[in-house]
Amino acid sequence: MEASAKASANIALAKYWGKADAKWNVPAVPSISLTLDQMVTETRVCFDPSLESDEVRLDGRRATTAEGARVVAMLDRIRREARFRLYAKVTSHNRFPTAAGLASSASGFAALAAAASTAAGLRHSPRRLSALARTSSASAARSIFGGFVELPAGRRGDAGLSARQLAPADYWDVRLVVALTEPGQKKVGSTEGMERSRKTSPYYQAWLEAAPKWARTIKRAIKKRDLDALGAAMEQSTLAFHCCAITSNPPILYWAPATIAALATVRDLRERGIAAWATMDAGPHVKALCQAGDAHHVRQALERTEGVTRTWIAAPGPDVEVRR
Ligand code: DP6
Repeated sequence: MEASAKASANIALAKYWGKADAKWNVPAVPSISLTLDQMVTETRVCFDPSLESDEVRLDGRRATTAEGARVVAMLDRIRREARFRLYAKVTSHNRFPTAAGLASSASGFAALAAAASTAAGLRHSPRRLSALARTSSASAARSIFGGFVELPAGRRGDAGLSARQLAPADYWDVRLVVALTEPGQKKVGSTEGMERSRKTSPYYQAWLEAAPKWARTIKRAIKKRDLDALGAAMEQSTLAFHCCAITSNPPILYWAPATIAALATVRDLRERGIAAWATMDAGPHVKALCQAGDAHHVRQALERTEGVTRTWIAAPGPDVEVRR
């Protein structure tokens, strides 16, 4: 009753922000992502009759109460499905190029869903695993698959909603250049941030109406390998969800001064003829999407940007990998 799994983080090209159903964690808008190599979580789960409670260790330390509760909620769902009551020992490590507060719930919950369900003897299809991972964190549904991945919007009660692969990792040789700005954890987590936006931002409805259009444009651009069309829609999707966050009450401003500086760098690169496009998640770091051949140039420009502390280059990454 033991298994381990390795899952890669992903970057949303079309952003998910907002839930149609908080209980089942169903997204209100479609999202499209690129799974990334180098940013991997490895998780081992062992169900053990001698345990008297679940034991969760993350990166060599005991999980906090909040972290532990999200892990146990996933284990409970798996125990109900497998119809047994054994407790589990969970050990998880983030193998990221840096430890600067970049732990990813996407790779974390994708690896946990895959390792725990396999350890429990459940033989889930990738789609089923994706739906399971989604109940903990919607972006984790996308990390079950490598390459380019789509997670549709759902409706209330859509318990089985899952992501699907649009194209494998070797389909298109793009790179994501990650530029770290500020150290430390994000101030408002995405779960809380998007709920606050839904309840209080006057622009949330406009976001719900516009987001599917950007997702469609991005899907078409992936089909045609059209980086300019993809990049332009990705930047709009990013700025629009940040607009919802900024106009929430109380406001959520994820940006640091270096965020703006890095955005300007990416825009300047484009003005000099290099196709690079920026995106951000619920934090101050900037990530630039470009062709593989331009990645070193883009990285150098971001490295020289005031306030950027570290950079690295990520390539398209693989499906989740499970070992017994
Ligand atoms: C801004 O998947 O972390 O990164 O479902 O509440 O766990 P929960 O949220 P999460 O949100 C990710 C938000 C985002 C955009 C994206 O990845 O699509």
